[in-house]
Amino acid sequence: TAVNPAELLAIATTIAREAGALVRRRRDEGVEVAASKSSPEDVVTFADRESEDLIRARLAQLRPHDGFLGEESEATGGTSGLTWVVDPIDGTVNYLYDIPAYAVSIAVVEGEPDPASWTALAGAVYNPVLDEMFSASRGGGAFLGDRPLRVSERSELSLALVGTGFGYSAEKRTRQAEVVEGLISQVRDIRRIGSAALDLCSLAAGRLDAYYESGLNPWDIAAGALIASEAGARITGFQGRPAGKELLLGAGPGVFDELERALVELGVVPR
Ligand code: IPD
Repeated sequence: TAVNPAELLAIATTIAREAGALVRRRRDEGVEVAASKSSPEDVVTFADRESEDLIRARLAQLRPHDGFLGEESEATGGTSGLTWVVDPIDGTVNYLYDIPAYAVSIAVVEGEPDPASWTALAGAVYNPVLDEMFSASRGGGAFLGDRPLRVSERSELSLALVGTGFGYSAEKRTRQAEVVEGLISQVRDIRRIGSAALDLCSLAAGRLDAYYESGLNPWDIAAGALIASEAGARITGFQGRPAGKELLLGAGPGVFDELERALVELGVVPR
């Protein structure tokens, strides 16, 4: 059967809204950490798992032939050539502290479930606290609710508000802090929002002029990168390679080159 991005997008937004409501409800009931992952800072809550289970079950009903790649459970392949890439709560530490910057991220991609080679077809990022639904389908534009999104037209790095994030290993964080130390005097200011998915949606909405981070996972960026690029952002990886684990750099066309140069000069670490 032919792929219909609008239909896939409707599935992504419906399920993201349902999972978002669940996550929000669990937050109000009080959050418990279920386990630490790569480091003590890298936690998973019971709500992460419950949200992923819900998303997985809904997709299995509606799209039984598609593959699944989520942050909290084992990946499964499908026979359709499509894979759903899911972060059940992006911004888990914000979630833990009740900082209203976390989201459910659901995307569907064609090809290998690897950002270096996939084609994202549709994606939804839902912040259940602000009730903000960011969405995009390939070639169909990006939206916040039903409002079309456009990246900022900022043209000077010195006036740009730049988002970034830090990985969970001490060594990586120290290196990332050194890059921030060099960058801070060259830009308007730096934000560490704490959710890569929302950073990318903020870029799409002109709430940030640029965003970069290294060490991201496929589920952190699958929906957000499509939303940002459909809103007119340039998104790449390290030195023109595809955006992925080593680096994701996204910006409006007016500041992209200047930011890339600055980051290379500061020795941004690709990994
Ligand atoms: C994390 C957030 C954070 C980013 C980390 C991610 P999680 O995802 O997106 O902003 O800096 O690199 O791992 O663990 O909250 O799903």
